[in-house]
Amino acid sequence: MPQEQASLRQVLEFMVAAGIETPLEDRPVDRFARSAPAEASAVPRAVPASPEMAGRAIPAVQPMTGGVAAVPLAPDAAVMEARRLAASAPDLETLRALLDAFEGCALKSTASRLVFADGTPGAPVMIVGEAPGRDEDETGRPFVGRAGQLLDKMLSSIGLSREHVYIANTVPWRPPGNRTPTPQEIAICLPFITRQIELSGPKVLVTMGAPATQTLLGQKEGILRLRGRWFEYALAGKPIPALATLHPAYLLRQPSQKALAWRDLRALRARLREPG
Ligand code: URA
Repeated sequence: MPQEQASLRQVLEFMVAAGIETPLEDRPVDRFARSAPAEASAVPRAVPASPEMAGRAIPAVQPMTGGVAAVPLAPDAAVMEARRLAASAPDLETLRALLDAFEGCALKSTASRLVFADGTPGAPVMIVGEAPGRDEDETGRPFVGRAGQLLDKMLSSIGLSREHVYIANTVPWRPPGNRTPTPQEIAICLPFITRQIELSGPKVLVTMGAPATQTLLGQKEGILRLRGRWFEYALAGKPIPALATLHPAYLLRQPSQKALAWRDLRALRARLREPG
């Protein structure tokens, strides 16, 4: 391989290892030109970040007084807007559409698409994971990659399949490079997942991994301390049981911990068999 190609390859390998997968801009942006007064009247459109994003609606860059381009919603304003939108959704389909059109979370700009839910809305069990990965980002369905295949096996070990559960994530867009979503991204998306749980109305909530457990159940300890414990989740004011357990992606890295997950699954099965 010529030397130039080899070093290019090394750079690309480093970028992939560092989680840099999505170029934000294809072309350089002349920010001085953007703030020039002559441009203030024209509303430039953002350039699609990647070929996959080319078909997606990209918001116009709003000029502000003095010709300075507007910044995205501040985090507090984004949380308030998320709360307002989520509360206004009378059903899951509307919630999905509102979330798809929501521009308050930066994760949306690097993801290919919204990953809203899978399984059966209204199912007795609702599972909430962390965030979509690459496979989920490509298909728009949660838990379809390796972790999802393990989740299917875990469910099947207690006689359940995707039809018996409803599945979503703490954040509905893939974080770049599969990093953990930041507390701010989680806070902005929280009103949507909370409303999604409320509208689906499960009998039992299962949180998989630390982000979902800590966020939805208001806990601070690590997942190894929290797993296997039952909590109360206030669903529209009425408490429902919520079980914290290990994330299948963690189990793929730590297969010896599958025994702990199996204990949690048996506890879930026993709870589902209880009358009422
Ligand atoms: N991990 C998650 O938490 N959610 C998915 O949808 C896929 C992997």
